[in-house]
Amino acid sequence: MGQMSSQLPLAARRAGRLSGKAQVPGDKSISHRALILGALAVGETQISGLLEAEDVVNTAGAMRQLGATVVREGDGAWRVWGVGVGGFSEPENILDFGNSGTGSRLVMGAVATTPITAVFTGDESLRRRPMRRVLEPLSLFGAHATARDGGLLPLTLRGAETAVAIDHEVTVASAQVKSALLLAALNAVGRSRITQTVLTRDHTEKMLKAFGAEIAVEPLDSGGEAVTLMGEAELRPTDIVVPRDPSSAAFPLAAALLVPDSEITIPGVLLNPRRTGLLETLTEMGADINVENLRESGGETVGDLAVRASTLKGVEVPAERAPSMIDEYPILSVLAAFAEGRTVMRGLEELRVKESDRLSAVANGLKRIGVGVEELPDGLVVEGRGLDGVAGGARITTHMDHRIAMSFLIAGMAARQAVTVDDTRMIATSFPEFEILMRNLGARFLVPTA
Ligand code: S3P
Repeated sequence: MGQMSSQLPLAARRAGRLSGKAQVPGDKSISHRALILGALAVGETQISGLLEAEDVVNTAGAMRQLGATVVREGDGAWRVWGVGVGGFSEPENILDFGNSGTGSRLVMGAVATTPITAVFTGDESLRRRPMRRVLEPLSLFGAHATARDGGLLPLTLRGAETAVAIDHEVTVASAQVKSALLLAALNAVGRSRITQTVLTRDHTEKMLKAFGAEIAVEPLDSGGEAVTLMGEAELRPTDIVVPRDPSSAAFPLAAALLVPDSEITIPGVLLNPRRTGLLETLTEMGADINVENLRESGGETVGDLAVRASTLKGVEVPAERAPSMIDEYPILSVLAAFAEGRTVMRGLEELRVKESDRLSAVANGLKRIGVGVEELPDGLVVEGRGLDGVAGGARITTHMDHRIAMSFLIAGMAARQAVTVDDTRMIATSFPEFEILMRNLGARFLVPTA
């Protein structure tokens, strides 16, 4: 009950025309990796545009506990003095990653080949999420974990005394697992080879290269790829400019598509092809999105998005596209609810083990606001009701999931009646400025009285 009373509910009412510039924060995936690789390099790494959200701040805290010096110097400007690969010292206290699957799993990898013992935990949501997917392959390096039943946090990880390189196929469609293994491989003897049959985000590979690691990526006949990485690596510090997060950009973008006559721009968004599945899908749905000023920044493709209100039509989203938009299905489902016709989304079993079971959270939420939806074991079928056809008028359970909270607030901006979400606290894990940014574009959010 105590927990219930500290929730922060918020309601979104139908908005008038949105306009302006949405400066969304730095990319979460790249921010975690910049801190971790900075901590594993020898010397000083400067980071600009770092996402200063709870998930990333927890990773910064873990790096400090492992012996790196991590200092915030200004808005998004951070400096890390790394201890070198193999140089982590044993943390004196528990490492608490809050809500972050990425932070916890990547740091497990970074610790797994250094002979120290670390205890990992997280919040109620993270303590329900599967960790065997990283612990099992990390044991191939000689790391030893003792977790709760089911491979759940809290867990204790003892890094290998002398780790030897591995050749391993990652069968789960997860960049976190691949990245954890690559981080572990940095301190193993010899060249590790990590293969994956699907193409998941490649920020770890790119950043390792920028830090001077001996890394190569080769395509496989299966359509996947093999990453080879030389161990006992010495990482050279490098300066990192973090582009803006496309997964956060998805929220103002969706709102601008749904609210009639809107016109907004979202500058400097990361457009790595492994992250642009939502843009591809929305283009197929008829969205008016222009990508302008496409450029390279710090080894990543970046561009400005110009978005105008659009009439959307339902589509079938190819299952193979899932890894490139895995975090965007909740907001895509909301957009599909306002589209004409049916949208079918498959290949999404991974959504059941995110911050919440997102297939069930989205399906239940959409039903409550008057949208027909079928929940499949691996997907969703949403019956679009057209731009003016979503009833709203309900309170949505967010299950400690930031993306469920933001998605349904966006739904409320275009539904006939207000949509309330039961708790907005988790939004701070990825997008602390969400509420103010959306209000500045023209959103009408209010704190419910009862
Ligand atoms: C991430 C990978 C994805 C994604 C998460 C961030 C990363 O998770 O959902 O938000 O930074 O590597 P999985 O690796 O579990 O698919």
